[in-house]
Amino acid sequence: MSEAFGTTGVTPQRAGQYHDMVQEAAAHPEAFWLQQARGLTWHKQPTHASRSDFSGDVTVEWFADGRLNASENCLDRHLSTQPDKPALIWEGQEDGQREVLTYQQLHARVCRLANLMRRLGVKKGECVAIHLPMVAEGVIAMLACARIGAIHVVLFGGFSAEGLAERLTDSGAVLVLTANSARRGEKRIPSKVTIDDAIVRCGQSSCVKHVLVVPVTDDVVSMQSGRDLDYAEAVSQEAPECPAESMSALDPLFLLYTSGSTGRPKGLVHSTGGYMVWAAFTHATVFDHKPTDVFWCTADISWITGHTYVVYGPLANGGTIMVYEGLPSWPQPGRWWDVIDRNGVTTFYTSPTVVRAAMREDEAVVRSRSLKSLRILGTVGEPISPEAWHWFHDEVGKGQCAVVDTWWQTETGGVMITAAANAITPRPGAASLPLPGVAATLLDAQGVEVTGAGEGLLCMAQSWPGQAMTIWQDHARYRQTYFTTCPNHYFTGDGARREADGYYWITGRVDDVVNVSGHRIGTAEIEDAIATDHEVVESAAVGIPHDLKGQGLVVFVVPREAGVFHPSAVNSAVSKGVGRYAVPEKIYVVRDLPKTRSGKIVRRLLRKIAAHDLEGLGDLSTLADPDIVSELIAAVKEQQ
Ligand code: WT7
Repeated sequence: MSEAFGTTGVTPQRAGQYHDMVQEAAAHPEAFWLQQARGLTWHKQPTHASRSDFSGDVTVEWFADGRLNASENCLDRHLSTQPDKPALIWEGQEDGQREVLTYQQLHARVCRLANLMRRLGVKKGECVAIHLPMVAEGVIAMLACARIGAIHVVLFGGFSAEGLAERLTDSGAVLVLTANSARRGEKRIPSKVTIDDAIVRCGQSSCVKHVLVVPVTDDVVSMQSGRDLDYAEAVSQEAPECPAESMSALDPLFLLYTSGSTGRPKGLVHSTGGYMVWAAFTHATVFDHKPTDVFWCTADISWITGHTYVVYGPLANGGTIMVYEGLPSWPQPGRWWDVIDRNGVTTFYTSPTVVRAAMREDEAVVRSRSLKSLRILGTVGEPISPEAWHWFHDEVGKGQCAVVDTWWQTETGGVMITAAANAITPRPGAASLPLPGVAATLLDAQGVEVTGAGEGLLCMAQSWPGQAMTIWQDHARYRQTYFTTCPNHYFTGDGARREADGYYWITGRVDDVVNVSGHRIGTAEIEDAIATDHEVVESAAVGIPHDLKGQGLVVFVVPREAGVFHPSAVNSAVSKGVGRYAVPEKIYVVRDLPKTRSGKIVRRLLRKIAAHDLEGLGDLSTLADPDIVSELIAAVKEQQ
């Protein structure tokens, strides 16, 4: 890598400003974050920044005495200066479907829905579930909830009815926004039917009083009278102005469910004040935001990336966002490149999985597009290989764009480690450096801090404004999950390596979480779903390296009776319990699982065996049944 190449876009001025911010945030965090907070509009300015504490019960508290409204920050405050600037450009997956909403228009649409929800009885502090594909209404719904102080819970379209029911019950959502159906290439996703099924499954515990059905396709769906309403018809009767609720900085803005290594999905609670400061600050800093930017984050709004970089970050900064409904290569390869060219996208933020898939297409596909509007490229969700990084830089960026790999998590609210565009020299394959105010550190297995170059558990020594405050209705679990592995630190669940000059390289999860195409899947959830199949005694899910998806999911199952076992039953149990996106790549039928004498499954062995990585299997003498290893190796070979 030549120096000239590596320093693409880094200017001494930006680099200097950035360096000053890092220094200032470390030396005077209170003053620094209060200063950043002034970039937002508050009903009452906060007088202090953090009152967070990682010891004892764990408190995460930012800007506690401040009051604000997130939707006002994304809309109203831009109305006086730029009412006619495009806020949201939407394109549907069919040719010619395009809509541009100015700030004025987006504001009006958000207000109408906010009024409707208020009229339907939604109260401040109640949860509203959003189960929509990538249509403008998804963004509108999030901002409308924020406007009336309702807590939104965006649910992924790929969850099964069972998965949705679990989240509806846990959040106690009183209203659901869904589509009649969604499009995915040739396929139709029966959104409304799945929600109906989910609500039935909630049974007595359902709090859902209304379902608003957005007409995304022309499919006709059944409507339950008194409960279900046609969105288009209902909002048309509402006024385009709606006073915003004044919220405490500590009031939850949203819950977002994510998977961990154990138990049920957890609803992480993000605050209104700290989260908004973090969203705006990181969007501006990481992507070197300019007022003329057209910002396209390709993530679905049901992921944290969609929350922070489709909606809250860019809109808080008065930017223009691109929302595209369709797949990268449907109806033909290069569809996303066309979206960039047609709409003058300047900043393109996507996942390594998308980059790897594009790399496999004929190079004429990307080379036949102009892509000259692009200025900044970004990736998130999993490590990007140096090879994919270079391809992204050379072929999509035509060698002219800054490329930022961004490491962060649902729990962190926004980017934490990156080579901020035009400020930090990136190293392809490295997540690079912590943002200002991010106290990243590495600890060894004994909880001792690693100094200088080395490898360890990636932790944060201090809170940052975007940190999730708790797990919905389970603070004990929050503390247990994140603050006990490394006492007095937030533990990310990732391992990392650090170079002598501070650059971080993420080595991957050290817990039982598998990352399939950037979708975080807890192996315990997969195993719980499989346990509903009575032909199976026990199972273990592990991740293995996968060329396209980053990681693939592999399951080992022990049948109750040898010979009477149907792999398809395992697939349908996963599809039913979790969702189709989590169906395993491969199922191996085995006599037993490798266990320690105390009965703990040795996943490390399963991972290696499934990946055909048979070097250094380590000490097998601690296994209850050491013979099982050669049996497993033979089974994997045989069932290839
Ligand atoms: C996990 C978080 C942040 C939004 C998308 C995923 C992995 C994320 C990177 C990266 C290496 C990454 C980590 C992390 N991860 N970004 N740039 N390089 N790994 O959010 O579903 O909460 O998953 O994704 O393992 O812990 P998430």
